[in-house]
Amino acid sequence: MKTELQIETAINSIEVGFSDYYENMVKYYQLHHSDNLTHTDFCNRTNRATSPLTSSREAVFYAVAYSWQHYQTIQSFLSVIDVTSNIADKIRVIDYGCGQGVATIAYLEYLVARNVATESEFEVHLIEPSPLTLNIAKHLIKKLANIHKLKLTIYTYQHSLDKPIFFKDSDCSETVHLLSNILDIKSVQNSISTISSSMRDMAGKNFLFATSPCYLNSWQGNNLLHESMSFLDSIIQRNSKLNTNMYSIVNDCWEKRSPKASQLFAYWDNNQVESEGTAIAA
Ligand SMILES: C[S@@+](CC[C@H](N)C(=O)[O-])C[C@H]1O[C@@H](n2cnc3c(N)ncnc32)[C@H](O)[C@@H]1O
Repeated sequence: MKTELQIETAINSIEVGFSDYYENMVKYYQLHHSDNLTHTDFCNRTNRATSPLTSSREAVFYAVAYSWQHYQTIQSFLSVIDVTSNIADKIRVIDYGCGQGVATIAYLEYLVARNVATESEFEVHLIEPSPLTLNIAKHLIKKLANIHKLKLTIYTYQHSLDKPIFFKDSDCSETVHLLSNILDIKSVQNSISTISSSMRDMAGKNFLFATSPCYLNSWQGNNLLHESMSFLDSIIQRNSKLNTNMYSIVNDCWEKRSPKASQLFAYWDNNQVESEGTAIAA
């Protein structure tokens, strides 16, 4: 019960942004050592955070151990292209395997920091098998939308990515696909053809940001996704290094870290047509 309340408390503590949630979680974690999961317990139960989380203690652990790094990784990755120029009036954001919604939050706060977030209306689609983290993501994003006065609607899909999703028709002219720390997961890799065929049919401009820790599995995931997307107009694959200050659950202190990520950025435009009227394919 204490940890369930903590999640609510951390969401309510947000005054400016996600950093408030993270810092509130870290303080709680430091004050309640005997209630916390150990790193070994967490990794064994969740298969290193790749399985859906099932308890609020796991959600607190994940927020403290990984969320800040993932949030910042997405924010630095977004600068690969200028997502803020000519920003569309209506944007669909799809967060695949969203967990607590860190990638969507990082994207929205990136736009807020550049003073463009209120120019657009957002349709946020959250896909995640864990009802616990899906619910946290929904509440966190709602809270941030209220604080920053964002025009935003949230749609949740509580299932895994092997199930195709039929998005309702909408007038969004741009879709941002966020795949944060999921392409290294075997069950996600097995669903890549389902994921890429739904991406292919998405009208308008499409931007895809996929980032995962620098493991061999992540490169395999990136390559599988790339191979299944013959419709791309452009693609960048890269390794990145982030310099950040974060709390270490192993050493129980704040420390400088430089986590590496393997990333894939892709762009395609389903509005572009050649003079003969056929869609341009890469
Ligand atoms: C490492 S976490 C990443 C969460 C979040 N995207 C982030 O960056 O913080 C991996 C997430 O993938 C989800 N997941 C695992 N297998 C999945 C599947 N087959 N389909 C959809 N999501 C899956 C897990 O429930 C978990 O939330």
